[in-house]
Amino acid sequence: MGHVLVATTPVHITAIYPGSFDPITNGHRDVVSRAAKIVDRLIVAVLRNELKRPLFSVPERMEMLIEVAREFPNVEVEAFDGLLVDYASERGATLIVRGIRAISDYEGELQMALMNRRLRPEIETMFLMAGEQYSFISSRLVKEVIRLGGNISGLVPSIVEERLKSRILEQGDS
Ligand code: PNS
Repeated sequence: MGHVLVATTPVHITAIYPGSFDPITNGHRDVVSRAAKIVDRLIVAVLRNELKRPLFSVPERMEMLIEVAREFPNVEVEAFDGLLVDYASERGATLIVRGIRAISDYEGELQMALMNRRLRPEIETMFLMAGEQYSFISSRLVKEVIRLGGNISGLVPSIVEERLKSRILEQGDS
């Protein structure tokens, strides 16, 4: 038998999957499920960013994320503010996970990844591709389609679809 070298340090990876998640889509869910298989602990972290005029409040977005995260035993849900890399380091995370769809996502993601690296070189960013059946889904388009009366089934988890429908109805009433 040849020589073997055995790693001597325990390896434990905590990763952060940050985003606005207004609301979570099936594309996000697919990224969560892929990342959860690779890392020991995955924290899905919602940015507390009320500037973007979200459709759902941060607690509402977290409720929907928690419903989805229940499927995965090593996935947690939190909210954060301030710099992502500072939050990651507070939580003991060494990895940031982001999903990329088309090439158009790449430029902005590259800028963020390199800025984050400059701020904290010890934190790595990992990009995952969701399944191609999700490659056209975005929270923004899902909201637009439902507002205009289109069918969004299969694009978001069913609990999100219900919440979206009732939120749009509420808005229509006011
Ligand atoms: O789902 P989104 O809106 O594309 O997510 C963007 C997010 C939350 C990842 C990004 O805005 C972020 O990390 N904000 C936190 C503030 C920060 O660290 N800014 C510098 C990043 S280069």
